[in-house]
Amino acid sequence: MTLKNKVATVFGGTGFIGTQVVRELAKRGVTVKVATRVPERAYFLKPAGAVGQVVPFACNYGDDSSLAQAVSGSDYVVNCVGILYERGRMRRFNRIHTDLPEVIAQACKKAGVERFVHISALGCDTGTSKYAKSKLAGEKAVLKAYKTATILRPSVVFGEDDDFFNMFAHMARFVPVLPLIGGGETRFQPVFVGDVADAAMAALERPALGDSNPQGNIYELGGPDVLSFKEIYELLFDYTQRPRPLVKLPFWAAKIEAFFLQFLPKPLLTPDQVESLKTDTVVGKKALTLVDLGVNATALRSILPRYLPSYRAGGRFGKAGQSSTA
Ligand SMILES: NC(=O)c1ccc[n+]([C@@H]2O[C@H](COP(=O)([O-])OP(=O)(O)OC[C@H]3O[C@@H](n4cnc5c(N)ncnc54)[C@H](OP(=O)(O)O)[C@@H]3O)[C@@H](O)[C@H]2O)c1
Repeated sequence: MTLKNKVATVFGGTGFIGTQVVRELAKRGVTVKVATRVPERAYFLKPAGAVGQVVPFACNYGDDSSLAQAVSGSDYVVNCVGILYERGRMRRFNRIHTDLPEVIAQACKKAGVERFVHISALGCDTGTSKYAKSKLAGEKAVLKAYKTATILRPSVVFGEDDDFFNMFAHMARFVPVLPLIGGGETRFQPVFVGDVADAAMAALERPALGDSNPQGNIYELGGPDVLSFKEIYELLFDYTQRPRPLVKLPFWAAKIEAFFLQFLPKPLLTPDQVESLKTDTVVGKKALTLVDLGVNATALRSILPRYLPSYRAGGRFGKAGQSSTA
């Protein structure tokens, strides 16, 4: 199915994953409405398409009629809105991961949207964190309101603007030791942001026939590498050339530390994130995966060299192996 000359709304299109989704849609000739709380945040996406092809769309998520306007006239909708921590009355997991997707799904149904793709998170069906529980409840609410929605559950996502590898690489510049929360045994299956966007495109493009019909399915998205937290640090040190001693920190101690860190303007760690580290985020053996969407998973080692070397002492062009503490 060709997407050319279609209209799509991307909620959270200004974010890390949403940006890639918008770019891929624009490449395919789709007119994209980037639903955002602050339209100026979406201006940088305009050059992704021809003049007038990528349009920021101010959306008030507390107002159902504003959501209805955002999806009105669209053939496709992709929801990439999400948060990693709670703050205040409005930034709550239930509100953003459960209630909002439900209202978007209802609006899509009412507006006759052809396909709806919702980004959830890997491990949400087994996780004990509030984040995971709110994501699972969101999936259920979406599928109840819009039966043929496609749900994508990525593991931790990597790419030049990711929060995960960049945060730890940044931390390694300033702290003398790094914590191995829960012993560092939690396993991840990092997936490339470009592959997540390709999976979203496949969910929109694949024919609604037979085995390739993505509608109503849940896909678990992981890359080719499964690594423990400890192995991820080792890979990071490899590229940043800033090895740091790793100190085992039991979950209970990490929660105490996280209790204080959660009050930073952008928390480095929250107690709920510690809770989520108790569960592996790897693709299940029976799950539908990137392969079922026709996407070849990209290896960490082919992308990390693009951005982690800039954390070396002396920067990207600093001597490999040169050590420094700042
Ligand atoms: N990144 C990962 O490693 C990862 C892994 C698994 C699952 N996911 C899921 O994938 C989705 C996208 O993740 P991402 O990394 O791209 O997130 P992101 O970069 O933080 O972007 C999320 C977008 O959501 C909107 N948003 C943020 N806070 C909001 C709030 N309080 N109310 C309403 N909208 C808000 C923002 O758009 P505006 O500011 O423009 O409104 C933002 O651009 C999320 O559902 C996330 O849970 C991500």
